[in-house]
Amino acid sequence: MRLSRREFLQSVSSATAVATLPAGFFSACSVSSKATGLVSSAEAFTNAPARQVAASSEIRFPKNFFWGTATASYQIEGAWSEDGKGESIWDRFAHTPGKIKNRDTGDMACDSFHRWKEDIALMRAMNLNSYRFSISWPRIQPSGSGPANAKGVDYYRRLVDALLEARIRPFVTLYHWDLPQVLEDAGGWPNRDTAGRFADYVQLVAGTLGDRVSDWMLFNEPSAFTDLGYLEGAHAPGRQSVLDFLRATHTVNLAQGAGFRALKAACPLARVGSAFSMSSCEPATNSEEDKLAAERAYAMTNVWFLEPALRGRYPEALTFLPETSMGIKSGDMEKVRAPLDFIGINLYYRTIASAPSAMERLAHAQQWLFPVKMVGGEQGPKTDIGWEVWPQALYDMVMRISRDYNHPVIEITESGCAYNDVPDAKGVIADGRRIEYHRQYLAAVARAISDGVDVRGYHAWTVIDNFEWAEGFSQRFGLAFVDFKTQKRTIKNSGRWYAKVAAQNALAAEHGGPGL
Ligand code: FCB
Repeated sequence: MRLSRREFLQSVSSATAVATLPAGFFSACSVSSKATGLVSSAEAFTNAPARQVAASSEIRFPKNFFWGTATASYQIEGAWSEDGKGESIWDRFAHTPGKIKNRDTGDMACDSFHRWKEDIALMRAMNLNSYRFSISWPRIQPSGSGPANAKGVDYYRRLVDALLEARIRPFVTLYHWDLPQVLEDAGGWPNRDTAGRFADYVQLVAGTLGDRVSDWMLFNEPSAFTDLGYLEGAHAPGRQSVLDFLRATHTVNLAQGAGFRALKAACPLARVGSAFSMSSCEPATNSEEDKLAAERAYAMTNVWFLEPALRGRYPEALTFLPETSMGIKSGDMEKVRAPLDFIGINLYYRTIASAPSAMERLAHAQQWLFPVKMVGGEQGPKTDIGWEVWPQALYDMVMRISRDYNHPVIEITESGCAYNDVPDAKGVIADGRRIEYHRQYLAAVARAISDGVDVRGYHAWTVIDNFEWAEGFSQRFGLAFVDFKTQKRTIKNSGRWYAKVAAQNALAAEHGGPGL
């Protein structure tokens, strides 16, 4: 349905009648209690109090804005078979020759399973008050079902406790792509039973971490992992089937509904969302055909997992909805509903859409179902991974989601750039282009906020250079540099810049914000 991630990534999102909690209120699950350690307001996470009076040249962010970074278990943890962890689809995929650039694997990654204290120290040094990380399902349930692996749970408990101690909000993703291999062997996401397994896993995690964690995301980029994993085959588990893809999307929607209910049942006050990959979709020309193609692209990439959650229906992306092929059963469109408390937006670039010609449709069977061609933009500068820098895309998406879904709470759950700058002779990593990227994307967020959108936080992807899926270690997105031979971390100039922005809760309107 899309171009491969190497050329440009897909994105997503929107939300409807979103039940919001009062601003800045974070409450915990009542499962067990560690009440004194539990931070219950955004203010409590503020590491560096915002200055109250702004210089006129500054762009200020709302009080208690969350300044964060984001990571994913497989990309940073390593320890792939340690302490009882089961095999994930990413372990299997990376161990299969030819799948990952340079034969890299996440076996060791950034060794965060052992070095998490160092990573928290980096975040403290950057004055951050939110950390988005994911839980590895096979570390909790090595064989995809059954009781929790105590050592896996302990790891996340220690991590969460240390974050709370550091006054950094733990912002937890339950699924960032590392499905237990056992479940893939049983059919993976195209198998409807996986939705039930996911809900059981969510319930288990809620029962063990729900006393400490208040803010959750069920999925990371469902649009990306179903597409890349089951249609394009570029990511784990590497399948290439339209049917598997369509069925996987429906199972994930069922899982989102079931997971939402499981989490709320265990932790009624938890704030529950998902992080959707999103991309503004612009028609290539002003023709009616291209405009329709852009709307289809938008529906498929941005709201395929959001319309079901919030409105109990699939958006109009395809020429017809292949209900039988997708495995949609009677009553399912109630089950997929999940009144998310917030919408997480991951956004890196925009998409340009056009309608295929009749000849192209004949040549590509898929284009009868989804008559859209998508490419990345070509006007802006490109990052080292080839994605166009286009901050307007973030503004446009946030505005549209807010408008279409009745002013939901939004968190920017990811944005960032790959620039492969390395330390100079003095050990300094002068990644000015990364500073410029975040400055511009943050300015876009600030503009949307001043236009009335309720954005609560920004999570830079990512805190440390890490394993970038099929690209292995060849693409560096971090605010801190990692020497993968020694695992030494060094804060880049961008990390020092971001620390100042977070401390001041503001960036300058021009010339790069706070100086270094
Ligand atoms: C996003 C993924 C994240 C990372 C960034 C660069 O799509 O969610 O894991 O790979 O892209």
